Amino acid sequence: MSKVNVVLGTFFGDEGKGKIIDYLSTNADVSVRCSGGNNAGHTIKVDGKKFAFHLIPSGILSRNTKAIIGNGVVIDPKVLIEEINNLHENGYSTDNLFISNKAHIIMPYHIVMDKLLEEIRGNNKIGTTARGIGPAYCDKYERSGIRVEDFVSPRFSELAKTNIENKNKILQAFGYEPLDANSIINEYEGYAKILAPYVKDTINIIHQSLEDGKNILCEGAQATLLDIDFGTYPFVTSSNPSIGGVCTGTGVGARDIGEVYGVLKAYSSKVGAGPFITEQDNEIGDTIRELGHEYGTTTKRPRRCGWLDLVALKYSARINGLTGLAINHLDTIGKLDKIKLCVAYNHKGKVSMDYSTNTTYISNCEPIYEEFDGNFGDLSGIQNRNDLPKNAQIYLNRIEEVVKVPIKFIGTGADRNDLIVC
Ligand code: GDP
Ligand code: IMO
Ligand code: MG
Repeated sequence: MSKVNVVLGTFFGDEGKGKIIDYLSTNADVSVRCSGGNNAGHTIKVDGKKFAFHLIPSGILSRNTKAIIGNGVVIDPKVLIEEINNLHENGYSTDNLFISNKAHIIMPYHIVMDKLLEEIRGNNKIGTTARGIGPAYCDKYERSGIRVEDFVSPRFSELAKTNIENKNKILQAFGYEPLDANSIINEYEGYAKILAPYVKDTINIIHQSLEDGKNILCEGAQATLLDIDFGTYPFVTSSNPSIGGVCTGTGVGARDIGEVYGVLKAYSSKVGAGPFITEQDNEIGDTIRELGHEYGTTTKRPRRCGWLDLVALKYSARINGLTGLAINHLDTIGKLDKIKLCVAYNHKGKVSMDYSTNTTYISNCEPIYEEFDGNFGDLSGIQNRNDLPKNAQIYLNRIEEVVKVPIKFIGTGADRNDLIVC
């Protein structure tokens, strides 16, 4: 029996998971996405060419890897087909792509509802990606969702018709135009035909692979502080991007999990609203954003930027049982003269290492910073942690010392090769 190795985001997403997954999937027989949908945007640069994956596991770039979209994912068929076509245009086959029959479909009414719900929230907007993610998961749990196996079956038109009629009542009550059931059903039946050959019971494929001793990689999307249970609720996504989502989103048991790599940047970023205690809503944040090209892969929104928060990282390490850290953008932070690292919080005069997503607690916390020298210089081509400039080593050592999880990967640039494997 082999194990499932996992790559997860430790903060608010966009930590560079795609790049670590890309490295690990060169040796993976199977690469699985377990949660979220096309709210995710994972960028991989191969020989200067940029790929942005929203639904298909980035492992598809390794030609012999089976890429699985697991049952925990919500799928916008239109986006998935665009992604498949893009891969074909770039000379990649999708013969190795498998879609779980139990995953759920994002329908046009989910996307409209996402926009409507944000409007209703007024000043309390979450800042969702407007991709219909929340409403699709709501329908899943409310038990009116459309599973992939129904989407590709004759049942689809009846299920879709009932749902569209029901959603139209809500939309019209809020002054929205009703959706045209017939044209949606026609359009989506066309998508179902294209996707049908990829649909499989992926649970069996994964378990057979485990029994055959294959190397399996689970590709996390979103991140721990966006988790519906463990994140900064309500400023979260509607799934469990932390470790539990690996079991519920793929059908493997807890004992099947091996390494759990937590990905972070050498600073922090966030898109959307919600508490972000080390945010630098000032010149420093602007500088980090420009140096790190911190604009969303999915929505192109400028990302909020700030210092690395080790209290939050420790929380993430605990929630996920991290066995290793992957720190990206060491090159970016190393361009600053001085770097700050949050090593604890001052909560009403008391030093604390307790992270909490409780907004009252967070609003009463002040980050306690240690300052480090930057100016790391050119990191390109460095393949060994010991060859890093001294200032970079001091910064990394301190992170490891506080969080007590070993650093396994260090990102020194956006390209596939800009990675130190420790
Ligand atoms: P993901 O959603 O976690 O996969 O991350 P994104 O792809 O949304 O955002 C990460 C961004 O950082 C992408 O533009 C990557 O190309 C880039 N990136 C990843 N690692 C590094 C690194 O070590 N250095 C630099 N400069 N860029 C990186
Ligand atoms: P990757 O996989 C960054 C954020 C949105 C918003 C909140 C809820 O690329 O790291 P949703 O559309 O999911 O209902 O939005 O979650 N969000 C992400 N932020 N990276 C992501 O994915 C995200 N997926 C969702 O910005 O604040
Ligand atoms: Mg992203």
